[in-house]
Amino acid sequence: MDRVLSGMQPSGFLHLGNLVGALQNWVKLQEKYECFYFVADWHALTTNFADPDRIKEYTEDLVLNFLSAGLDPEKCTMFVQSRILQHAEFHVLLSMITPLGWLERVPTYKEKKDEINDKDIDSYGFLGYPVLQSADIMIYKAKHVPVGIDQVPHLEITREICRRFNHIYKTDALVEPQPLLTRFPKVVGVDGRKMSKSYDNCIYLNDSPETVEQKLKTMMTDPARKRRTDPGDPELSPVFELHKIFSTEEERSEVAEGCKTAGIGCIDCKKVLIKNIFAVLEPLWEKREHFMANPGVVQDILEQGTRKASVIAEDTMQQVREIMKF
Ligand code: TRP
Repeated sequence: MDRVLSGMQPSGFLHLGNLVGALQNWVKLQEKYECFYFVADWHALTTNFADPDRIKEYTEDLVLNFLSAGLDPEKCTMFVQSRILQHAEFHVLLSMITPLGWLERVPTYKEKKDEINDKDIDSYGFLGYPVLQSADIMIYKAKHVPVGIDQVPHLEITREICRRFNHIYKTDALVEPQPLLTRFPKVVGVDGRKMSKSYDNCIYLNDSPETVEQKLKTMMTDPARKRRTDPGDPELSPVFELHKIFSTEEERSEVAEGCKTAGIGCIDCKKVLIKNIFAVLEPLWEKREHFMANPGVVQDILEQGTRKASVIAEDTMQQVREIMKF
């Protein structure tokens, strides 16, 4: 079985976009691959080093969401990055062979530097982010890394570091990983923009059912439908974008027809969506409650995952130390 590895940063609470864009795919992959999934808590320090309490809180939320979304400790290995010190050791060694120019050219580095103004990210660690990510991946010799398109430049750096390492030390010890692109339509937030924690337009997986219902009820629709009798254009309504993801074709054509003819009101249309989103979230809420009531179970799962991951990470490091003459 090929090995798959992916991680998420604990830099915010998980939302519906993360669920359908990433987590549901991870759940599918655990059936076909040997999967390793982890919380990249050191990575979160790059933007949140001044607020480690938040990282801790988000880490707990992430682990709960891994489990509630259906990641199964019998089928995949889950762990927290900072529990496996070999990632840091590998990062130091890889950093020595990584040319500065490669890192400065990473598009996400330049973009984020321009984009984030409210936080100080002018750090050595932030520049080295892709090197740490490379260590995360190659320490498990993962072949496939399920990520969104934004992570492709990081994977490209990993592949370059891999080739450079193997070339310099005349070995084939490190495995070149491939991105496993998760194609999914962007999930819109309640204001019609892309769902993102920086826009404050998210449906969070830890929102209560009441909050989710409220957010959807007040979600933006086609601005042309001011009154119930005004016809609308579903393609101009963010609500319809969510119907495209969560509703059946039949429901979709019904609400589209009702919208265009003013046969139904926006609330009727939203009721269908609320029903369908609840159907997705209800099993999650149930499991979340179960795991919250049994924190010992969550700790056991993480410990078991850490043990399994450690064995592989240490194995690779023994090989790497030997190759680099330590
Ligand atoms: N950079 C990834 C993100 O922000 C998180 C991450 C860290 C990761 N290490 C990884 C993803 C290794 C895949 C593999 O989403």
